[in-house]
Amino acid sequence: MVENRKLLNMAKEAAGKAYAPYSGFQVGAALLADSGLVYTAGNMENSSYSLSLCAERAALAKAVSEGEREFLKIAVYNSKQYPVVPCGACLQSLAEFDPELEIITENADGGISVKKLTKYLPHAFKLEGKKCEDRH
Ligand code: THU
Repeated sequence: MVENRKLLNMAKEAAGKAYAPYSGFQVGAALLADSGLVYTAGNMENSSYSLSLCAERAALAKAVSEGEREFLKIAVYNSKQYPVVPCGACLQSLAEFDPELEIITENADGGISVKKLTKYLPHAFKLEGKKCEDRH
């Protein structure tokens, strides 16, 4: 199991590769799948601002497109704001696969915070009648 500090460091490295020339706010995410593989990404902005993609959803898209469906935790990092919590759209996207996903962030004092996704988004939208098993 990848340690939280290591996962945060991977998120930090991914933040360094973010493409965020418009906001200057570089975010990195590192998503640990059940398989043991970690998928990293930075945010990707566009001159048509609303097309910008958050780091968390970029990492999730990488993982899901490789066939991953089960996830253990995600670390999210940026150098300007502590802690950076995934935005509502990212929480909803992550909740699709695991509403109990652990979200790892760094506090201003360098400590690590671990909270479940349900703490930030207790009422994620789910299509009625859709069970977890239907996801595959
Ligand atoms: N951003 C993320 O990558 N993740 C979040 O959870 C919040 C915001 C990005 C989107 C945009 O590129 C920049 O941060 C400023 O909002």
